[in-house]
Amino acid sequence: MSLRQKYSSAKGLVKRRTHHGLRVRWLTLFVIILIAELVIAYFRIHDVILVISLHLNIKLDWIRGLETNCQDLGMHGAPVLPPQPVDGSSPLPLCPETPPSLLGKLNLGEDDENVKMPELLANLSWVGDGGRHKPSECVARNKVAIIVPHRNREFHLRQFLKAIHPNMKRQQADYGVFVIQQSGTDTFNKAKLLNIGYLEALKEGGYDCFIFHDVDLLAEDDRNLYQCADVPRHLSVGIDKWDYQLPYDALFGGVIAMTKHQFAQVNGYSNEYWGWGAEDDDMYVRILHSCLGLERANYDVAKYRMIYHPSDTNNRVNPYRYTLLVGAAERQRRDGLNNIRYNIVDKKRTALYTNITADVGKPPSKPNVSTFGTGIDIAISISLLLLMLSLSCCTCFKSRLMHVVLCPRRIS
Ligand SMILES: *[C@@H]1O[C@H](CO)[C@@H](O)[C@H](O)[C@H]1NC(C)=O
Ligand SMILES: *[C@@H]1O[C@H](CO)[C@@H](O)[C@H](O)[C@H]1NC(C)=O
Ligand SMILES: *[C@@H]1O[C@H](CO)[C@@H](O)[C@H](O)[C@H]1NC(C)=O
Repeated sequence: MSLRQKYSSAKGLVKRRTHHGLRVRWLTLFVIILIAELVIAYFRIHDVILVISLHLNIKLDWIRGLETNCQDLGMHGAPVLPPQPVDGSSPLPLCPETPPSLLGKLNLGEDDENVKMPELLANLSWVGDGGRHKPSECVARNKVAIIVPHRNREFHLRQFLKAIHPNMKRQQADYGVFVIQQSGTDTFNKAKLLNIGYLEALKEGGYDCFIFHDVDLLAEDDRNLYQCADVPRHLSVGIDKWDYQLPYDALFGGVIAMTKHQFAQVNGYSNEYWGWGAEDDDMYVRILHSCLGLERANYDVAKYRMIYHPSDTNNRVNPYRYTLLVGAAERQRRDGLNNIRYNIVDKKRTALYTNITADVGKPPSKPNVSTFGTGIDIAISISLLLLMLSLSCCTCFKSRLMHVVLCPRRIS
């Protein structure tokens, strides 16, 4: 060993490492950035795990943890909906918990029936203007708004109306049907229409329970009561198309019931889902993050028929749905009822429903998603880490070319 080498090896760790392998400074930077990224990932990973587990049908401990956490906080469940007050002036009693004239399993007939409007109107002449009705013999427990988003589905809408009105009447419901149609031919935004339905129905006053209902689902049993509870309820548990099984545990779409208070508490649906898919999963995330809990209706009666329909050309699968879903909890406070913008083009009370046509605007060319966790961020992080690693390892490289390309200065 030369004197010079002896001298430099005595100069301490940093210098010595430079000559024998790793560069401590770069390595430290590498470790710091790695830790920082892990911390960021940790705080965001909950949503990622949730999304993955949602669709792979894995009930991860984390979700259970979240639910328990909510219970520990004493936040499980929103206030129970009080029954409609029966004031002294009303001679009517509160309706019984189990309506007396339910039929049970229904005979729905052919599933491609072309329901004729004049005949339907004649049969349903007892339905009030704007598609309302209330029992005359008692005071209903909830005042229910049924919100049905729709575009170019008149054929299904007639079948839906034929089924829903007699059902609600047998259930002794005090209710109104609101059909929310999106104007124009831009990409469909179902979630936004549901928010609009909620807001517009509220303006009519008195509604405290909201049923968000797909137009193509027909209840097969009227014992599945369209009522709200102290937690958001999933009513379409079994659908014939899926052999009456939930396709994945976290499904929360089709037909759901939420009180006015619950829906406001989760800030409604997200407005950002243009096209088909995941807006209902987003609602599931919102409900979990708000510690509301949820319940499925009784499986034996919560059965539906899905009416066949060809897919809608203006409702294509939304390619951004998972990116949006990953940021669902993060967007919850600023995306929903509190930032919705729309114009009512037309609002009419027709014989069987309130027909609301709304201009919901145009989809953005790119959704306003958080840049964290998106592809480009991951790519940048990985390149940065690789660069740090190579710099810290400058003296490991045997090849001169690698030194020239990667190392800050050549090491001889
Ligand atoms: C009208 O009522 C009759 C008698 O109950 C029934 O046979 C018919 O299918 C109903 N038509 C429509 C369109 O609701
Ligand atoms: C609702 O009203 C709009 C505007 O008047 C009309 O174009 C549309 O056909 C109506 N929709 C239904 C389902 O009646
Ligand atoms: C996009 O999201 C950011 C928050 O990340 C928000 O401040 C901004 O207002 C949003 N822009 C639009 C057009 O919604």
